[in-house]
Amino acid sequence: LLKPINMLERTLIIIKPDAIKRELIGEILLRFENAGLHVLAMKMVQVSKRDAEKFYAEHAGKSFFEKLTTLLSSTPIIPVVLSGENAIAHVRKIMGATNPVDAEEGTIRHDLALDGTQNSVHGSDSPDSAAREIAFFFNTLEIFENREG
Ligand code: TYD
Ligand code: MG
Repeated sequence: LLKPINMLERTLIIIKPDAIKRELIGEILLRFENAGLHVLAMKMVQVSKRDAEKFYAEHAGKSFFEKLTTLLSSTPIIPVVLSGENAIAHVRKIMGATNPVDAEEGTIRHDLALDGTQNSVHGSDSPDSAAREIAFFFNTLEIFENREG
């Protein structure tokens, strides 16, 4: 079966420590809200190094794994569930490429990120990772479902 062109999806973003420290929470949320994405859940939490390693398990063993997981656990972070049409791809477009030097003008990472590690935001990259990452931070009762549809 062909996938419908417009899929109502959920995705997880994280406002990362470098953005929290520079007081860019409102700026980042505004960009997603202005793009038509809906906030279904949000909290401020500090994860342990071990939890950061679990969250980023797909990158275990890579050269940047240690600095990535040290950074993610360094201050509180803000995980947010967003919903919208094609939300996973839409969010990644608004975020821009992983390294700000490669990111298009007007994207969050181009405009706000410090470098390829301190890149201000995370966004899920597939339906499977979105489901895993949403469940990592939120239980179903914490997700406001009536904003959709
Ligand atoms: P990745 O999933 O490849 O990027 P994205 O966040 O765009 O999905 O990598 C996860 C994070 O790991 C990335 O946001 C920042 C960090 N990272 C580095 O520090 N150096 C690197 O070379 C890469 C590829 C990622
Ligand atoms: Mg990724």
